[in-house]
Amino acid sequence: MEKPFGEKPLVIVKIGGRAAGVEETLKDLVSDIAALKDRYCFFVVHGGGAEVSRITKIFGLEPVFRDGIRQTSAAEMDIVDMVLAGKMNTYLVRIFESCGVPAVGLSGCDGRFFMGESIDPASGNRTGRVTGLDMGVACVLARAGYIPLIASVSMDGHGRALNINADEAALEIACSAEAEALVYLSDIPGIMKDGKLLLRVGAADAEEEIGAGVITGGMIPKVRSSLDALKRGVGEVVIGGFTHRGDLDLLLKGGLGTAITGLKTVHYLENPWEAQGIVAESPQDLH
Ligand SMILES: Nc1ncnc2c1ncn2[C@@H]1O[C@H](COP(=O)(O)OP(=O)(O)O)[C@@H](O)[C@H]1O
Ligand SMILES: [Mg+2]
Repeated sequence: MEKPFGEKPLVIVKIGGRAAGVEETLKDLVSDIAALKDRYCFFVVHGGGAEVSRITKIFGLEPVFRDGIRQTSAAEMDIVDMVLAGKMNTYLVRIFESCGVPAVGLSGCDGRFFMGESIDPASGNRTGRVTGLDMGVACVLARAGYIPLIASVSMDGHGRALNINADEAALEIACSAEAEALVYLSDIPGIMKDGKLLLRVGAADAEEEIGAGVITGGMIPKVRSSLDALKRGVGEVVIGGFTHRGDLDLLLKGGLGTAITGLKTVHYLENPWEAQGIVAESPQDLH
């Protein structure tokens, strides 16, 4: 049966704030997406956490994280809106359009794409979880040939702003749309342990590695979302980095990054980025 966004299999690409840091690399990613557009329908979800934290500190506030998830005060929510739905989203649309790939920026609020609720309403925390999705607006865009570029801010049923972790937003969209693949792009080659890349991480091992402090910070929501996505029927989940043209195809074919699987097997590789002389950068300004 044809899906509402067209007959091609859907791939959700989540671009981490840090992965979006180098403009030339981002353009290479867009050219990969353009090259694969006939084969897949792409939805792009983006974060921007490093930039949110940078601006938050300029305003004299201290970002607070729990299990890698930002705990968003009302004041910080304004910054999240400005950075994600404003700066980052527009920046990405400019990059896609300047590469000749039609794209439209959206947030969870648009057409109620994804609605949510606060994870802790009593405390005034504006961090949310997704409670419902309406794929309508994204499907209209996809069928018209646009790639939806989605900022992970939204609102609750009363119209109050919510900040939703972009890894979780990508997961919910992937599950709701029965995506063929969910790709998490960040500033690392995949899940690392003792300086080596884990080629595959099994569900049973993942929580253990979180408990042991091997998987920390922003990698936690990625791993937990990946496991959830597999359980809920997404075909394939991979966490990795993008450094060269052609990497997206490799990530989709299992030739790059860390695949999250139901298998227990875990293989190791020396850090492939180190061998290429690539060092994961600390958070930096986007442009
Ligand atoms: N075992 C691990 N392997 C790889 N990265 C890890 C691991 N544990 C923690 N991290 C951190 O997770 C970060 C990616 O998550 P995050 O900072 O939220 O970026 P993004 O913007 O891509 O979501 C990496 O930059 C790395 O510092
Ligand atoms: Mg993150």
